[in-house]
Amino acid sequence: MSLNHAADNASTRHLRRVVVTGSAGFIGSHLARTLLETGVTVIGIDRRDQNSDPAAAANLAELNSNPHFTPITVDLMDCPVEPLLPDADAVFHLAGMPGVRPSWGSEFDAYVSANIQAVQRVMAAAVRLRVPRVVLASSSSVYGLTDGSPSAETDLPCPASPYAVTKLAAEKLCLAHAARSDSETSVVALRYFTVYGPGQRPDMFIHRVLAAAVYQAPVHVFGTGDQQRDFTYVGDVVRATIAAATAPDGNVVINVGAGSSASIADVLTIAHQLTGRPVPVTTSSAHDGDVLGTLADTSRVHRLLGWKPEVELADGIERQLRHLQALHDHTTARPTPRFEVRS
Ligand code: NAD
Ligand code: UGA
Repeated sequence: MSLNHAADNASTRHLRRVVVTGSAGFIGSHLARTLLETGVTVIGIDRRDQNSDPAAAANLAELNSNPHFTPITVDLMDCPVEPLLPDADAVFHLAGMPGVRPSWGSEFDAYVSANIQAVQRVMAAAVRLRVPRVVLASSSSVYGLTDGSPSAETDLPCPASPYAVTKLAAEKLCLAHAARSDSETSVVALRYFTVYGPGQRPDMFIHRVLAAAVYQAPVHVFGTGDQQRDFTYVGDVVRATIAAATAPDGNVVINVGAGSSASIADVLTIAHQLTGRPVPVTTSSAHDGDVLGTLADTSRVHRLLGWKPEVELADGIERQLRHLQALHDHTTARPTPRFEVRS
């Protein structure tokens, strides 16, 4: 069957039953929740066990009561994958080891395993089971040491960290499987740009700034604070990700970034404005591979997915702050400074 046919097949399929890998994670749990809200049956795959991992439990709290959600705790590296995929209209493959900075060290093997070898296992199974569409979570980091000028999908990727190398390898691996002569599976690889919002991973900057404000501890800035990111709100990312599952054009990479950027110093200012207190800062030098500035060229995502961002940075940070405060109030009886969130 031709690749064009595979793409048509995906575009005409309505999403009834899907698989979300990484469903106990930050973006995966938001994606699963939104899919469930639109009436889709979701098989959620993650190696984190919500019975023993409080962060996974928090991410999945709202989903568990939904009868159309089936969480399965397995490691995609050592479980049979095919039994997880029957009748899936799409696989959203978000499971992976995120984070640029730790990928230089002893965890490199874990990055290779989660971001390349697991992708190989998922793609091989998806092709064998004729899943029409795989949507892969890739990363803006594949562009490399960008200086803040817009990155387009036609730019030559030049990854500047081990993490970024694994994400580019994952894209190429998916596209190679999709191009096989026996493949009826098409792929859309989404290059997410620094995603933020309620439940953001605790290693990420905006979470750390807001946690510093709530818990009155300093946040550590790597480098000058002038580095810029195309911070992209998780709800917007989820809309693009769902659109990618049925988009007519498959076998393509697409940027998912707001198309505007702010410095991390700007984030500190917004946090100050929202909480009424300056966030204490300590500093050290920048990490290798830490990009000076990211910015998405959004023409392709607009053209192929009809997508535009909806949530402004200050609004999204306020939503993330409220969520963090609610969690904090729920998990501690200790009296804490409570900020009036200024709208
Ligand atoms: P996350 O760590 O919160 O979620 C990833 C989930 O994948 C985790 O719950 C983890 O347990 C699971 N996982 C990893 N390896 C697995 C395996 N072998 N088997 C089963 N489950 C496994 O990360 P996130 O921020 O939600 O990122 C999701 C995806 O998006 C990742 O692939 C990441 O590389 C990519 N991405 C994230 C961002 C961002 O800003 N958060 C930006 C670009 C790309
Ligand atoms: C984020 C995700 O963590 C990656 O998984 C993802 O692939 C990448 O976005 C992407 O866009 O592709 P990053 O942009 O480094 O990576 O996001 P943060 O971890 O939030 O860091 C943003 C900036 O803040 C970086 O310059 C970082 O050095 C800085 N930072 C981060 C600090 O100064 N202090 C911290 O405590 C954390």
